[in-house]
Amino acid sequence: MLVSPSLLSADFGNLNKDLEMINASKADMLHLDVMDGVFVPNISFGFPVMKYVQKACNKPLDVHLMIVEPQKFVNEVKDCGAEIMNVHYEVCPHLNRVVQQIKNAGMKAGVTLNPATPVCMLQDIVADVDLVLLMSVNPGFGGQKFIGNTLNKVEELRELITKRNSKALIEVDGGVNLETGKLLKEAGADMLVAGNFVFKSEDPLMRIKELSEL
Ligand code: DX5
Ligand code: ZN
Repeated sequence: MLVSPSLLSADFGNLNKDLEMINASKADMLHLDVMDGVFVPNISFGFPVMKYVQKACNKPLDVHLMIVEPQKFVNEVKDCGAEIMNVHYEVCPHLNRVVQQIKNAGMKAGVTLNPATPVCMLQDIVADVDLVLLMSVNPGFGGQKFIGNTLNKVEELRELITKRNSKALIEVDGGVNLETGKLLKEAGADMLVAGNFVFKSEDPLMRIKELSEL
């Protein structure tokens, strides 16, 4: 299982320590949650923090934009060293164009679905994206409870990906721990985001290792 720990749950008073832990870990990527207080009811961090993370972190960056009009910031996100730029389906009326913009900028394009957005909405874009990020909580906060219906959505998405000959990876975000992670693996997920489960633990390296061995 690929693992992308979410920096949102890190100690921002001592980011270096947590980034050193990530560098020494088996994490495949580092997940960065950008929030605008408009699309989601919270504000997290922005480009200056991401630029610092780019310098201090040796893992590829998986950027999850929970903002309206993400197409305005493709170049800024690229300049922060993002490998994947994830935009929400719910804020992109011209999703096909945004996906092309992300790819033209040299990044992998990810499309994210809120828990109440059906997987079938992706049928005409799934072949063009590198990754689909399914939210298993309502976006905005770490530490929330996993929404069980996500397991059905992962199965449905796996079928859609096969049917449409897509190479998209399935990433899941919210309430991930070893229990929900195991169920997600069985349902067909490729990559797990984990915030609290990793950073609020006494032994975050072990937690990342355990998730990666699922
Ligand atoms: C929620 C964010 C998540 C969050 C996950 O809006 O997109 O990435 O950090 O945190 P946990 O794993 O604690 O649910
Ligand atoms: Zn996220």
